[in-house]
Amino acid sequence: MLCLGIESSCDETALALVRDGVLLDAVLASQVDVHALFGGVVPELASREHYRFMGVLFDTLMQRTGCRPADLDVVAVSRGPGLLGSLLVGVAFAKGLVLGTGARLLGINHLHAHLLAAGLEEALPFPALGLLVSGGHTHLYRMEGPARFVTLGRTLDDAAGEAFDKAGKLMGLAYPAGRLMDALACAGDDRAVPFPRPYVRNATLDFSFSGLKTAASAYLDSLPPSARWPRPVTTAQGASRVLCDCCASYTRAIVDTLMIKVERTLERQPDLKTLILAGGVAANSHLRARAREVMRRHGGRAIMPAPAYCTDNAVMVAYAGWLLAREGWRHDLSLEAIPRGRPIPDDMRRDGVPHVAA
Ligand code: KG4
Ligand code: ZN
Repeated sequence: MLCLGIESSCDETALALVRDGVLLDAVLASQVDVHALFGGVVPELASREHYRFMGVLFDTLMQRTGCRPADLDVVAVSRGPGLLGSLLVGVAFAKGLVLGTGARLLGINHLHAHLLAAGLEEALPFPALGLLVSGGHTHLYRMEGPARFVTLGRTLDDAAGEAFDKAGKLMGLAYPAGRLMDALACAGDDRAVPFPRPYVRNATLDFSFSGLKTAASAYLDSLPPSARWPRPVTTAQGASRVLCDCCASYTRAIVDTLMIKVERTLERQPDLKTLILAGGVAANSHLRARAREVMRRHGGRAIMPAPAYCTDNAVMVAYAGWLLAREGWRHDLSLEAIPRGRPIPDDMRRDGVPHVAA
């Protein structure tokens, strides 16, 4: 079964081909440089860039793999959550392909795709605990199967990636700051600054990271001029000791907070033996190491996509499409793009039977 994946939910235009669960090839055009000029993603610019690159990337992928549009069995597209204008470019392109080729259409939940991409590493055992940490979302799921996700907790304000990016901006790090902060943290002492573990003294599995950013701001304001570093910071090489300690302590605070809620879930739901960790922040080396250690201690294991497939990509969309098509799921041409903040409807069909929500 040949499945095309299309990703255009934010600032990466990406396409990938998966045949029978195995990656054939992938193409990606990043807009990071365009948005870096503004310090964040500009939605109108993002949709224009997707529109500019989508057709070119599709042709490139077909040429490189020797596949023809008529060979496609499934066209899977990120249908949300994301920026509406950006999503619409991908969804419209997917519908055009489906109309032209008769392939099966599947609208993919972008957050679920991040987690399912871990299946490229090894077959996913269900049920599993899913922790999705990205630039826009922080979600804890009980994953019953490729089409059955139960939300256990989510962030009430900033996502883990935003916590990295916003504090990084205050420290003078180039946008998006997560990757650079990861590298700076490697050279720092993670106990140097006593940042709080926000929103853990409660019984919920939700997260709240906005207070942590405020704590970082207060700490930076308290530094004497002699402890400040030149800005912008674009590389970890030669970085100041104070900055490295700050990044290490801040990273540790985020990692601890995430793991406190993971361990709480494992205690409440002892049948969960596998943690699936995904999303852009899952590329963080400190989080990856801690997730493995925590799961080992609980007699389970952590599975996560390779760092290159943690940030937005189309491989995860193609792979999720393949998993769902294999189970017989499909969408019809009424598929809608769903922007961030609106619930994704359970509108997949299987042999004409509506999908029953978990
Ligand atoms: O999943 P993603 O590519 O896009 C969204 O769907 O949001 O995630 C992007 C986020 C950004 O906030 C970025 O700073 C963060 O992932 N990120 C990292 C690392 N690499 C990317 N955060 C921490 N450590 C990293 N190594
Ligand atoms: Zn994402």
